[in-house]
Amino acid sequence: MANICIVFGSTTGNTRDVAQKLRLIWGREDADLVDVAEADADLFARYDRFILATSTWGAGDLQDDWEIFFPQLDGVDLSGKRIAVMALGDQQHYPEAFCDCVALLVDKVHERGGTVVGFADAENYIYTASRAEREGRLLGLLLDEDNQADLTDQRLRGWVERLRKEFG
Ligand SMILES: Cc1cc2nc3c(=O)[nH]c(=O)nc-3n(C[C@H](O)[C@H](O)[C@H](O)COP(=O)(O)O)c2cc1C
Repeated sequence: MANICIVFGSTTGNTRDVAQKLRLIWGREDADLVDVAEADADLFARYDRFILATSTWGAGDLQDDWEIFFPQLDGVDLSGKRIAVMALGDQQHYPEAFCDCVALLVDKVHERGGTVVGFADAENYIYTASRAEREGRLLGLLLDEDNQADLTDQRLRGWVERLRKEFG
């Protein structure tokens, strides 16, 4: 079994595509990829390292399949687990709620006893406000396939390098 599990939710395919790219960068053999639409809570007992990937919908909300799955996390013990969060959003059309949903996942992971890793630098973004930003740092990796797709590869590679150390 792989070392890490990438759990993604995607409505129009962007997050799925980026999650697949992330898996290839990580190493196909070392990372499993699961669509949250097909996940059950037991999944969280099977790995110690997770990357949760979602897109942002509504006004800063989780992607629909993640929203449906989210309450199941209340029955999950995440103590001893290291978890990183990645989100896709659109800074131009939602500059005041860019990838806000990251905060929901991060707060839930903390609540369930997990350790959040994979904070990122808030550099080269064009949004005006995001709940994913706390004290000048990003709680996870924020990507914008609508306006900054050219930065995605570089952002993913930098983040994976950091995660390899933080996942241990
Ligand atoms: C109706 C709608 C609402 C959206 N709401 C937000 C939002 O609140 N914040 C944000 O950063 N992006 C928002 N987005 C942008 C999407 O998150 C973005 O297009 C993303 O790449 C979609 O990824 P997916 O195909 O994996 O679902 C919204 C897009 C649509 C169409």
